[in-house]
Amino acid sequence: MELTTMLYFLASSFFFFILLFKFFSSPKRGRELPLPPGSMGWPYIGETFQMYSQDPNVFFSTKIKRYGSIFKSHILGCPCVMISSSEAAKFVLNKAQLFKPTFPASKERMLGKQAIFFHQGEYHANLRRLVLRTVMPEAIKNIVKDIESIAVHALQSCQGKPITTFLEFKTYTFNVALLSIFGKDEVKYREDLKRCYYTLEKGYNSMPINIPGTLFHKAMKARKEIAEIVARIMATRREKKEESYNDLLGSFMAEKAGLTDEQITDNIIGVIFAARDTTASVLTWIVKYLGENPTVLQAVTEEQESIVKRKEKNGEEIGLNWEDTKKMPMTSRVIQETLRVASILSFTFREAVEDVEYQGYLIPKGWKVLPLFRNIHHSPDNFKDPEKFDPSRFEVAPKPNTFMPFGNGIHACPGNELAKLEMLVLLHHLTTKYRWSVVGDKNGIQYGPFALPLNGLPLNLYPKYK
Ligand code: HEM
Repeated sequence: MELTTMLYFLASSFFFFILLFKFFSSPKRGRELPLPPGSMGWPYIGETFQMYSQDPNVFFSTKIKRYGSIFKSHILGCPCVMISSSEAAKFVLNKAQLFKPTFPASKERMLGKQAIFFHQGEYHANLRRLVLRTVMPEAIKNIVKDIESIAVHALQSCQGKPITTFLEFKTYTFNVALLSIFGKDEVKYREDLKRCYYTLEKGYNSMPINIPGTLFHKAMKARKEIAEIVARIMATRREKKEESYNDLLGSFMAEKAGLTDEQITDNIIGVIFAARDTTASVLTWIVKYLGENPTVLQAVTEEQESIVKRKEKNGEEIGLNWEDTKKMPMTSRVIQETLRVASILSFTFREAVEDVEYQGYLIPKGWKVLPLFRNIHHSPDNFKDPEKFDPSRFEVAPKPNTFMPFGNGIHACPGNELAKLEMLVLLHHLTTKYRWSVVGDKNGIQYGPFALPLNGLPLNLYPKYK
């Protein structure tokens, strides 16, 4: 084939594919597509009050019963489409070219505009590679001992006083996050980072008014202080040129990573944000569910004790290693079932970057789209008797795309292996060495923003053996 004919052929194929893509991804211009069913509520306010004046999940399930698995609404000043079918959620989360992540501007300012969550394309892919490098199994295998020592210390400090489980677990998951970010360097800066980070989080859900005295202003100041600490750690590392670091900061600072100091700081703050409250909430729910299900607790305790006994019998080194954590099928199923029942991230947000046709409906450009993870996890079509806490259901793999506690697509959680590891390690020590009893109301749920047992599950922890 002549060169010009070939170029002509390639160019026309390219345009043909573009046209084909447009045809399938955008609404046909020739006919008007309907919006999904649903109600938009009051002008501007929409249905925000209806959604937040009750458990948001009641709001969603009532709507699903009335309108089906895809419906429209209007919350927090934005028109949106909510979706509760696993296929639709997969579609939205995997079509990154049609649906981009979206957050309120004040949250972006607080976490840092360069943080991974807010981006797409090459910059996002580069960040993901750098994060994954330090939290994939190959890398976290080497920090099991360090995580274990943080877990042992965390549980010891809870004894003999009433504790708020969530707060204690937040300290644990914060310390594990710092370990994976700064390696051993973190110990020196742990308290300062903790103080700043706690001020930052108080401002996260406050009114974004940046004047002296407001929580938002304090949070922005704390953010600056964190940036200064990170800058100090980076300067020290740059002085010691010859040393190499296997932690997240090392990965971000590598020459090949091509990140500026500002990008590094934004992403460190972002990773702590993503890693801490999520894992601490799930652990809190596990403690609650184990307390309510004595036979499950018994099975987990026996599994964990058998690991200790086997190591003693074989004269193996005391303490957990990576291989031990792979011999915890029952405990792993408890984690999976807790992720499903508690669904701490009830939903996430995306925004349509152009008009999209989905199942005969129009999702207009600029509208928010909310995949409702919790409703997918609680649908009887996906999980039999969905309200029941039953870890044995995970003896069989769930139907494809019906279980997405760590999301789906290019923004799915890169930290899921680290999260599971730190939960297994803590549960090993909790069940083999402690008993506990919940104090006060055992049933309420609060959202802040993650679903959490009421008041963070106050309890007393007792050592099993003196
Ligand atoms: C049980 C604990 C955790 C749960 C349930 C969880 C859940 C999730 C979910 C659902 C997403 C996707 C959100 C979306 O698509 O909008 C996500 C993203 C993310 N998670 Fe996790 N996560 C957990 C722990 C962690 C940990 C320990 C880390 C530490 C590395 C981490 C780091 C991240 C990051 C950096 C992202 C953003 C990824 C991106 O935008 O590409 N998470 N997480």
